[in-house]
Formats: sequence, structure tokens, C-alpha cells
Amino acid sequence: MTSRLPGFYRLPLQERLDLLSGAADLTASEREHLESGTPLQPSQADNMIENAIGIFALPYAVAVNFQVNGRDYLIPMVTEEPSVVAAASNAARVTRECGGIEAEADPSLMIGQIHVTAVTDPETARERIRGAASQLVAMARSQQPRMVARGCGAREIDAEVLPDRSLLVHLVVDVGDAMGANTINTLVEAIAPEIVAVAGGVANVRIVSNLADRRMARARTAIGEASLKAPDRTGADIAQRIAQASQLATVSPHRAATHNKGVMNGIDAMAIATGQDWRAIEAGAHAFASRTGSYQPLATWRHENAVLRGLIEIPLAVGTVGDRIRLNPRAGLSLRLLGVSSARELAMVMAAVGLAQNFAALRALVGEGIQRGHMALHRRSEERARLTSAVPGRRGPDP
Ligand code: MEV
Repeated sequence: MTSRLPGFYRLPLQERLDLLSGAADLTASEREHLESGTPLQPSQADNMIENAIGIFALPYAVAVNFQVNGRDYLIPMVTEEPSVVAAASNAARVTRECGGIEAEADPSLMIGQIHVTAVTDPETARERIRGAASQLVAMARSQQPRMVARGCGAREIDAEVLPDRSLLVHLVVDVGDAMGANTINTLVEAIAPEIVAVAGGVANVRIVSNLADRRMARARTAIGEASLKAPDRTGADIAQRIAQASQLATVSPHRAATHNKGVMNGIDAMAIATGQDWRAIEAGAHAFASRTGSYQPLATWRHENAVLRGLIEIPLAVGTVGDRIRLNPRAGLSLRLLGVSSARELAMVMAAVGLAQNFAALRALVGEGIQRGHMALHRRSEERARLTSAVPGRRGPDP
């Protein structure tokens, strides 16, 4: 399968579907599902949340050209923002010319927190928890036999004394291909009485931490100056300016927030398309970006030896199994389109998309500016909307 589909964006929607069906080997029912325009039935929505009154729709697209760890991926994206998909595809084409994007992801380790208050002697309580660690981990593992049989389950437990003399216990669990919040919440609630039996006090908050910093994904790329050249600028100049823009994000939190917003344009679009909890991803990303006490860029760029080197590091708590995916047919279809076989692989590709999206934004910012391309796409959407509403039942011209 190749993700290099030149001219994909210029095709009418139907032909795009034809090409995609072939490239991604879609089944007849998957194709039908895409064409039906009804991603979710109201009855399915009713099973997912309370007080459902219908379906809210957003555009669904694929970004092309991505090559990660030598493999081609079509990237499903859900976004309302024009130019995100085009920018990602464009950036992916540039990285592809230079050998693609290399990515890696940690095992799926999630942290559950148990906050124990009213502890008489917190230091002694902490040592007792440490002394009983293997028994507590074994107890947590016994709650999840199927997970343990798959080689996952609870791994570690530790405790710290907080400045207010309460005790904070962290349980670390390998959640495999799940996002893991439900697993963790079940586990911390189950073992809290045992923690209290060991440490004393009162178990208060028992919940997953969305700062999933034991579940990091990293992606890097190296872009030669020749691939950055523009009609009016040398590649070296553009590389230099991108590195300066990256540096600016390290010293200005106001810029870092916008820089990271650009990263999340890609990651969120992919997260929504694949049925992830994107609020959890956002919360984790920004908490990680603030880990040093000053808000930092998630992706950074250096210009050295005629090469622009990009690196992204981001916690990504994503899953390829679970209710959120099972109950939403389009999320399953997105995962099929992507062809990932594990949550870790999904995290790697997602990190690569975040890096590419950031590169696209910076290249536009330091060059012609963001508005020219952006506004051209806005104008196109407006023109299409005008034509579509002028003649009922008729679609506007396709790109
Ligand atoms: C717009 O959605 C995202 C950008 O502002 C990101 C950036 O400035 O790096 C273009």
C-alpha cells in the first residue's frame, strides 16, 4: 500500500473514494458506510451518552504521503479547520522525500493515583506501602486476569509524602492496547481499601492521571535544505528561520501555546477520527509541556550541517480497543484505514502527524505567512457553500 496519492485533493469526492477503496482495500460495506453520510445512527448515539438528541457531524478526510518507520500510512482526520489536512499531506511529502519520519513509543504504562489523607505518620506509611509493594501489585494483577494473560497488568506501586503531609500512591499499569482510563479507575478503586489497611488514613481521590508521562511517543525527521527551497528563498534561509521560530517557542509561552496548538491540529484530528479521548490527550500534552515549570514546545527544530532536524515528544494515551471504538463504526474504519496493529503503533503515527503538522505551520509562518494558503482554502469553502446552497441538491465544484 502506498500513501503517496498525487493529485488526491484535486479529485471529485466520489473519485477520491474510488482511489481510497483501492489503496486501502476497503470492503464494499466500508465503502457503503463512507458514502451513506450517516456515520452513527441516533440509536447508537443513545447508547453512548445521556440525553442524546441526534448526531453532530464534522468533515472526515485522509491525509496522504505519510511514511513512518519506512511504512506508508493513510491518516484519517476529523477537523472543521480548512488547510489542516492539506498542510499535513504537504509536510508528509517533504519528509518522505528525505527518508520519512522515524517514531517510537513506550509500552502502554498508565498511572493511577490514590490520595490518602489523615495519615498519622506519613513517612512510616510510605515505607509500609513500599514494603508491601509486591503484595499490592499482585492484588492489582489478580483483579485483571485476562489482561495479565496478555502480558499486561499492574507493574509497580510507589508512594510519596506531599507537602500537606498527605500520602499520594501511584499505581503503574501496562494497559496494552487500551487507552486504559477505565482499567486504571477500576483498579485504584479496588485496591484503595488495601492501601488504607497498610497505610492508615482515608482514601480520597482514586483516579487515572492524564499526565501519561510513562507512555511517551517520540518522532523525528531530518529535512535537507534542498527540500525546503522556495522560489524567493534558499532552503538554508528557511531552515534557519524555522529553527528560530522553534527557539522562540522555548522562550515565549504565548508563542509556545500557538506552536503546540498547531501540533494538536494534527493529533486531535487523528484522535477524533480514531475514537480517542482527545481531552485526555490534550490534558496530558499540555501538562507535559509545562513539566519544567515553564510552558515549552512539544516539537522542536534545529538547523545544523545543512539539515533541519525536528523532534516531538508527547505523552499519548491512545487505544485500539475499547467501547469508544467498538460503539463508533467510523472509529473502527479509521483504524482499518490506518492499518495499525497496536496502540503503540497508533501513538507512533500520531506523534509523526503532530511533527509534520508543526513543520507545515512553521514553514508557512516563516515564508509567505499563514493567511495566504489559509484564506485561499477558506475562500474555496465559502465558494462551495455558496454554490451548494444556490442550487438545492447540487454540490459545488470539487478541488
Ligand atoms: C492554526 O490553527 C495553527 C497555527 O497558528 C500554528 C502555529 O502558529 O504554529 C498556524
